[in-house]
Amino acid sequence: MGVAGAKAYKTSHINNRRYLGNKYKLLPFITRVVGDECPGIGTVADIFAGTGAVSSIFTDKVIITNDLMYSNYICNYAWFGAETYDPQVIVDHVVRYNAETECGENYMTRNFADTYFSKSDCAKIGYIREDIEKSYQEGALNERERAILITSLLYAMDRIAVTCGHYDAYRKGAGFDGSLELFVPLAKVDNNVENRCLNEDANELVKRIEADLVYIDPPYNSRQYCDAYHLLENVARWEKPPVFGVAKKMDRSGMKSKYCTAGATQAFEALIQDVKAKYILLSYNNMAEKGDSRSNAKISDGDIMRILRGKGTVKVFEENYKAFTTGKSDIEGNAERLFLCRCYDEGQS
Ligand SMILES: C[S@@+](CC[C@H](N)C(=O)[O-])C[C@H]1O[C@@H](n2cnc3c(N)ncnc32)[C@H](O)[C@@H]1O
Repeated sequence: MGVAGAKAYKTSHINNRRYLGNKYKLLPFITRVVGDECPGIGTVADIFAGTGAVSSIFTDKVIITNDLMYSNYICNYAWFGAETYDPQVIVDHVVRYNAETECGENYMTRNFADTYFSKSDCAKIGYIREDIEKSYQEGALNERERAILITSLLYAMDRIAVTCGHYDAYRKGAGFDGSLELFVPLAKVDNNVENRCLNEDANELVKRIEADLVYIDPPYNSRQYCDAYHLLENVARWEKPPVFGVAKKMDRSGMKSKYCTAGATQAFEALIQDVKAKYILLSYNNMAEKGDSRSNAKISDGDIMRILRGKGTVKVFEENYKAFTTGKSDIEGNAERLFLCRCYDEGQS
């Protein structure tokens, strides 16, 4: 907790949010494998970065983050952006936003009152998001400060949403226990000036970048992240689109991932062919043919090995963990795996 003037505020770290498939708990495992097997790396590209948790273990290197979702791009830019920022600006805004009571009607109250959030929290979310944009347009915030404040808002929403952590549905009649409170994200002021944060299809990005280590953590089942996190994406983009249905989702065409479809293997093959790296590290769990069909992995182990072996020599590392389906069954004996490919030199493959 910090204190600004007489006002106290709380702080948050990169992992203080819920996100499907985030690798926060696997960081010791990933650190160990990279430390033992990938000497002398200077640049790491985390091309399906999600929360950015994996990039957070590489802050002594040049980091390239990327994600198809704009909301993740914003969080990654907040944590790893090359631009500096003034922490006092963040504290002042957070303290002011938390004290605000007159928020009025806005896009959030009109569309989401008493769904995922109470009407008064919707009013506050809409007010804060609008104010961040206005301050940015007026030049009172730089791009990194804008991203850090949006990140603070998204994390605050995640803490109080009456969901199971994603926005496919809200729990009707569950009651709203907490009220919105922004925390100050403890983002490093002076990240490596060569860091880059991007927001595009990884298959396109790899055609343009090079890195010593490319970490690949695609979705592995049919669950689209833009469906699960439509509301965070909506607030991050702040284009105020119409929303539909009980879950109040916006139009998400153009945001869908090929990795959640029957085309996943083909997309993965094209991706690997275009990667330019010394090492490729892939996370992919072994849910194929287990659990409910929505949880089934889209790319088979056989295809993963065939595709990676075309690129270099492959080693597989396993760490046991507990896998849950959507809450019904608890499947034991699954392992989170890391596939490490030491790429052949260009011209040798
Ligand atoms: C398993 S999650 C990554 C989790 C991340 N490693 C973490 O620790 O938070 C997969 C991510 O890939 C993103 N994604 C899906 N398809 C993509 C694509 N074609 N290009 C870039 N990102 C994509 C999703 O938005 C999602 O955030």
